[in-house]
Amino acid sequence: MTVRIENPIFDKLGMKYPIVEGGMTWAGTGALAAAVSEAGGLGFIGTGYWHGDEVRREVRRAKELTDKPFGVNVMLMSRHIREVFDVILEEGVKVVATGAGDPSPFLDELHAAGVTVMPVVPSLSMAKMMQRKGVDAVVAEGMESGGHIGQMTTMALVPQVVDAVSIPVIAAGGIADGRGVAAAFALGASGVQMGTRFLTALESEVHPNYKAKVLKARDIDTIITGNIVGSRVRVLKNKMAKEYVKREVEEIGKPEPDYETVEKLESGTLRAAVIDGDKNGGAFMAGQVSGMVNDEKPVAEILAEIWAQATDIMGIENTTK
Ligand SMILES: Cc1cc2nc3c(=O)[nH]c(=O)nc-3n(C[C@H](O)[C@H](O)[C@H](O)COP(=O)(O)O)c2cc1C
Repeated sequence: MTVRIENPIFDKLGMKYPIVEGGMTWAGTGALAAAVSEAGGLGFIGTGYWHGDEVRREVRRAKELTDKPFGVNVMLMSRHIREVFDVILEEGVKVVATGAGDPSPFLDELHAAGVTVMPVVPSLSMAKMMQRKGVDAVVAEGMESGGHIGQMTTMALVPQVVDAVSIPVIAAGGIADGRGVAAAFALGASGVQMGTRFLTALESEVHPNYKAKVLKARDIDTIITGNIVGSRVRVLKNKMAKEYVKREVEEIGKPEPDYETVEKLESGTLRAAVIDGDKNGGAFMAGQVSGMVNDEKPVAEILAEIWAQATDIMGIENTTK
């Protein structure tokens, strides 16, 4: 197998491994992002619907822990998006990943400040649109992922996006070891993004109940909430998730379905899982790879192990040793 690993963005950022820790709201703290960047990957702080001051707090925590570049993942639908971008620019954050929308209204000012912008895309049309708007790379994310998801699987999405755009494509969703990384490169990706794998890292600050749930999970232990409501989220099965899906199905049978009330069932539940470890009421977002995440170890070990396995499979030199 001949695989070419070329990613000018990762080279510019001085990364040792072509591996990104995808932004995870509440779970992707400044400490976790810093650990990933410090170890040679690229860490992201997840910010969801946070205010600017919460984003600033985590950015400053990360800066205290590493001099290496790290990123901030922003939710474009957030009411606080303007103040979040102000913080990003004021704090000199080097990379921004975006979800749920079109980042182009902010592109000029981000690029003028030297910020690399890489939106997360769930489909080919979004990937092509993002390239037209002038972003630097795209993260093609399959529905195996934990958290908010689209319809496509990573295996089908990544090669189609690679064929359609000329900017770097980072594959996300369903990757947790060197075999997944090698597969992503075989599909033409020039980097990978993982989320679930980092939830149980030693530096991950999610509640011990969250870690335990991921460690215990089997392959079929995730469920998608919001299939009918229209906002699909992959979580580990628990009381909240089952109740949500049950309520969705009940609503669809009504003459005037009230999806808004159902959607509210999930409000605040990710925080309840990450911070409080609320086993019944929390949304334990995690991907289908939860079944193969079976240990808690330092980020540096996770990255080194994965890359050693990936380079071995691809038959390329592991220059990081
Ligand atoms: C707990 C959790 C929270 C997440 N939150 C976000 C988020 O706020 N923004 C985003 O773009 N992606 C989010 N994601 C997706 C990750 O960034 C990443 O793309 C995904 O986890 C990759 O798939 P994997 O879980 O199979 O590794 C989240 C994932 C998890 C597990």
